[in-house]
Parts: sequence; C-alpha cells; structure tokens
Amino acid sequence: MDIIINKCTPEQLKEKPKDMHHLPFGRFFTDHMFLMKYQDGEWGQPQIIPYQPFTLDPACAVFHYGQEIFEGMKAFYSQNGSINLFRPYENAKRFNRSAERMCMPTVDEELFVKAIKELIILDKEWVPKEKGTSLYIRPTMIATEPAIGLHSSAEFYFYIILSPVGPYFKAGFNPTKIYVASQHIRAAPGGTGEAKTGGNYAGTLSETEIAKKQGYSQVLWLDSIERKYVEEVGTNNIAFVVNEEILTPELDGTILHGITRKSVIQLAKDLGYKIKETKIELRKLLEQIENGECTEAFGMGTAASISPVGELFYKGKTYQINNFEIGKITQHLYDELIGIQTGEKPDKYGWIEKII
Ligand SMILES: Cc1ncc(COP(=O)(O)O)c(C=O)c1O
Repeated sequence: MDIIINKCTPEQLKEKPKDMHHLPFGRFFTDHMFLMKYQDGEWGQPQIIPYQPFTLDPACAVFHYGQEIFEGMKAFYSQNGSINLFRPYENAKRFNRSAERMCMPTVDEELFVKAIKELIILDKEWVPKEKGTSLYIRPTMIATEPAIGLHSSAEFYFYIILSPVGPYFKAGFNPTKIYVASQHIRAAPGGTGEAKTGGNYAGTLSETEIAKKQGYSQVLWLDSIERKYVEEVGTNNIAFVVNEEILTPELDGTILHGITRKSVIQLAKDLGYKIKETKIELRKLLEQIENGECTEAFGMGTAASISPVGELFYKGKTYQINNFEIGKITQHLYDELIGIQTGEKPDKYGWIEKII
C-alpha cells in the first residue's frame, strides 16, 4: 500500500539544533513521523504526517498493561554522500517477533523498511554529517483500545519517529564501568526478555539508579534462577575475551537477540577469531579477570556499536579489565563494524541498505 505523505507547512518546520556534534541522546526529533492505525482486525492507511503529540484516551491498554513494543536502529551519513541503514530487515523481523510475544499484530516487513526510508528521505536534512553522529530511528507499537480489564487490545498505533544523535562516546572511544546486578533480575525463562517491550526496561530502572549513584552508568544482569550466569547489559549484549577466545552469553530466551551481536559474531569468525556462544559463570569470570585470563570485555548494541568495558563492580568489589585500556580485539571489531556502517569499508555482507 502506498504511503500518503502530508508534509509540514513552512511554519510547522522546526529549527534544527545548531551543534549536531554535541546532541544529547533522544532529545530532538525531526519534522515528520510515520503513523498507521490498526482497527477492526486490519491495518489502515500508512501515512507520514508532521511530528505531533497523540491525544489518547486514559483507558488505553498501553497505559495500564504495558502492551507495547519498539525497535532501535540507526541511519548513517556515509563518506560518499549516501544515507545508509544497517540491516533494517533484521529490525523488522525482531519487531514482529516482539509483536507475536506481546499479542500484537505484525507489520509487513517491506512496509516497515519502506516507511523508514520515505520518512528519512523527507527529513534528510536532519541526518547529521559529522563523524560519529547518526539518525536514531524508533519504530514503536502501542495498544490504544480505550478499555480497562486485562485483555489484548483490539486497536494499535504503529509509528516511527527520528532523532539526530551525537557521538555515543563524548570523550572519545573509552572503556566504560559496569555494575553487576545483585538485587533484581531483568528477565526469567518463559518471560518476555527476548521481546523488545517497555516493561523489560522499566523493571531495570531502580537498580540502574543505584548503580548510577555509585558512578556506574550500566548494569550487567544475571540469570534469574541461580543468579550465577551473565546475561546482558541494560541496552547492550556483552562479550569477554578469555584465553584468546571471545565468549558471549548464549541466547536462552531471556536475552535480546542483538543485531550488533549477530554481526560481531559473523565479523569475528571471518577475521579469524575464535568466538563461542556459551553460558558464562560470573564467579569464574571474575577469577579470570583477576588472574589475567580475561583480557578484554565489550558491549554490543546499536547505540554505541561496540563499547569497551574497563571495570566490573560486584557486591562491593571492583574488577579492572586490561588496566582500563581498550583491548586489541575490541578495537579491531569496532573499526570493522563502524567502517562498514559508515561506508568507509566495503560491505561484503550486504548489510547496508542505501536510502539515498
Ligand atoms: C536489552 C538489550 N540488549 C541488547 C541490545 C542490543 O541490540 P542491537 O544490537 O540490536 O541494538 C539492546 C538494544 O537494542 C537492548 O535493549
């Protein structure tokens, strides 16, 4: 179905932020948004409209039972002047897996990608050009049926908003410090951990606040049954280099299937590294950090692509990794991935979807 485009009038166009290089994450939004409504068992007309607030009934299911899902992806301005998406069909597939888990209607994958492309073409002046910057894309679905009483909503909004973002690492590509959760868990087997749904994140906020007060911006979550195995970080998957082998927690139903993680696994193999998806026992890992067998750690996610980890904090004790320096393998994988995303390196995998 064709997307109807209802452009902003000149008066509705917003003033763009002056310094695209120092943008805070997710605070500025472009001139337009995509919107499609679901009612009576089917999706209605897809449309691009001026960015605007919604008027929603306070009884809408999303406000009471958290029936909502979202995605996070980026468009990059490349050196040759094109604007690129990174593996958008992977996001479309994950969005639909989340929809199925949360009892919501799926969206045609082609339409999902087309909507993003058309929206970006219209708002292309908002794609920052400076090194390290990008346009963050947030496809979202919310339950809008105005009826309380626990049931799956019969009405939904699927919408997409765009936000120009500055470099993730303001002070350069530097190691981060991570707090290992000791009070709460993020997701349990059979729960919704694998879906990108708001409740998974809301439940992590209180321990993340505790971590922040102690100077840690991210929390590493452990498994919910034994609190023994490493799972993932707040908005990142995680990997450790132990005895020259890259280890990352296996996808066991509670961890988000990260697209960066999937890409790094492929890249690492092709670059000749040993990489294994496995259970990672925290106690053993902390010993391996202390005795020098664990030489590197890094997070993997859309926001930061690859972020080196220089320290873990667990139950009052700190564990420094590689003297808080960026490891060779982390740097290598970062350079390769960012190189492909920004068009500086050839995309032999076909991961880049050119918009313009
Ligand atoms: C909980 C969680 N884990 C991992 C990731 C990394 O996923 P991706 O690489 O697809 O951004 C994200 C980010 O979306 C996340 O929110």
